[in-house]
Amino acid sequence: MATVLVLNGPNLNLLGSREPQVYGRATLQDVERACHEAGKRHALEVDFRQSNHEGALIDAIHEAGRAGSGVTGVVLNAGAYTHTSVALHDAIKAIAVPVVEVHLSNVHAREPFRHHSYLSPACAGIVVGFGVAGYAMAIDGLAARTPPP
Ligand code: DQA
Repeated sequence: MATVLVLNGPNLNLLGSREPQVYGRATLQDVERACHEAGKRHALEVDFRQSNHEGALIDAIHEAGRAGSGVTGVVLNAGAYTHTSVALHDAIKAIAVPVVEVHLSNVHAREPFRHHSYLSPACAGIVVGFGVAGYAMAIDGLAARTPPP
């Protein structure tokens, strides 16, 4: 079965307790559940991961791009690395698999330093500001792009 890699960056392990007025009360486990449900609708396996380390996120993107990985798309919420990481931009550019950038919050309605993304120009699409539902939207978008076997 084709796989979608859902990759979460720094501080997203604290979802549920972290700034609930911005990110809501749903936990990362709730996000994972929503992703599996979305995957099931499209007969896609979901590989769900979180890391607080930039290099680990880059390694996971490389792994997804390797021939035979079975990964047909990546959903990436890179957290604050979105606004700082040329290395993640380069990793996304380095693989042929489409990557969808997701943010729970509407980053454009927040502090100016969140308005710029190093990732957006390298990504196939962006889903911003829809909370947990944004992950399922990203999986729906990837499924719509993925050619049938
Ligand atoms: C975030 C937005 C980022 O600016 C922030 O650093 C995060 C979460 C979001 O999902 O809204 O960690 O990616």
